[in-house]
Amino acid sequence: MGVIIRNSGSDSADLGAVTEPYSGYLLRDVPREEAELTHTDTGSPMGELMRRFWQPVCLSEELSDLPKAIRVLNEDLVAFRDKSGDVGVLHRHCSHRGTSLEYGIVSEHGLRCCYHGWLFAPDGTILDTPGEPPGSRLKDSFRHGAYPAREHRGLVFAYMGPPGEEPGFPLFDTYDEPDDRMVPYSVWHGCNWLQVQENIMDPIHACFLHVNMTGLQLSGDFGGFPELEFHETEGGSGMLFVTSRRVGERIWVRTNHALLPNFLQIAPIFPRTHTSTHFARVGNTRWCVPIDNGECNLIGWRHFSDLVDPRGEGREELCGPNSIDLFGQDGNRSYEQRQREPGDWEVLTGQRPIAVHALEHLGVHDRGVTMLRRLLRAAARGEIPDAVARSQRGTGGPHINTFTQDAVLEIPPAEGDTDRTLLREVGRKVFETVMESARFFGDERRAFVRERYRAMERDA
Ligand code: FES
Ligand SMILES: [Fe+2]
Repeated sequence: MGVIIRNSGSDSADLGAVTEPYSGYLLRDVPREEAELTHTDTGSPMGELMRRFWQPVCLSEELSDLPKAIRVLNEDLVAFRDKSGDVGVLHRHCSHRGTSLEYGIVSEHGLRCCYHGWLFAPDGTILDTPGEPPGSRLKDSFRHGAYPAREHRGLVFAYMGPPGEEPGFPLFDTYDEPDDRMVPYSVWHGCNWLQVQENIMDPIHACFLHVNMTGLQLSGDFGGFPELEFHETEGGSGMLFVTSRRVGERIWVRTNHALLPNFLQIAPIFPRTHTSTHFARVGNTRWCVPIDNGECNLIGWRHFSDLVDPRGEGREELCGPNSIDLFGQDGNRSYEQRQREPGDWEVLTGQRPIAVHALEHLGVHDRGVTMLRRLLRAAARGEIPDAVARSQRGTGGPHINTFTQDAVLEIPPAEGDTDRTLLREVGRKVFETVMESARFFGDERRAFVRERYRAMERDA
């Protein structure tokens, strides 16, 4: 039996336990959502936290000779790349008389409003007000709303926090894995950001939704019930899970790492479990970026290499704006198909536009979800500022080491029930190795981890 946790951290009233049959009438009211974690309006705790980090806002390929209307963290914006190559993210409504700059004209320098021709630089400087008389100082008397923007490997990022306080741009170590190709994608979800982010700290759903419930959406290896642990990282800057599974003569240990507030790296989607595999890193790097409180975009990269996609099952050509090459991830199927074989997109959008924590009954395997909410709550309240400062906030120094990986180790089964103990022990050693390796970078780190894994195989 699982441990039941009710109303964890919710701002709703405790409903108490209803035990009568046919209790629909008693349970018909839907309490409010947990606004502290789910709302990202300006001035909200979570919204202000997210604004302290670089957030991806669209794909580079979406910026053509036309500007692109975007909505991020409940703000209406427009993104563009001017003809000199500079990228801008501006408040969407023209500061003259308010029309949308999505109808603007991309210029040599900046974006020109179609209504009366005002020209806006990427930093919000008003470069031209052609209808004003010569010598008018109107354009020098104010600025248009603008956010620092930059591109990285096909994604456009913006910093939407207080001016002058932007962090260094985060460069994660996994951007430099040998032979790894990073392909940008986005996926729109008609639901709150948090339920999408939480999904990966609920690794047990892979056994059910993706393997045993409706069809084989992932490798059958995901169907084995894992030994499972959750760990906070670096004093609360994020968390990871460790799943350890028996696959024939091997033990497969998967670690997935989430960094606060909305960043996540997922280990290989098509795991290389048929042979010994040492430190295969990331299949998916992504941010879950709120559009507003009831919608979000997953934006990031799929990774392709022999190590993270050994049989070439991934489809790079299917990754792009609102499209990813993974089954059931983007809602781009008929309603009947989605009902007959629901994927992540269906179960997440199906939790209501904003999931209501007060109505949940969390069990023992939901402790990753509980841990993530606790960390986010503390971060939003400013209770772990140092940890948050270390989380995905680049310093311009060495790359930020992350802890997502797969290890598939040649370790034969132990007798009977003791094999579960062995899984736990191996999972713990892999976790400790990956954490300890954070003091090295690049090839040195890979060599350190792989030598430890070889030693574990030798000892077995
Ligand atoms: S409304 Fe944009 S220039 Fe007048
Ligand atoms: Fe999933």
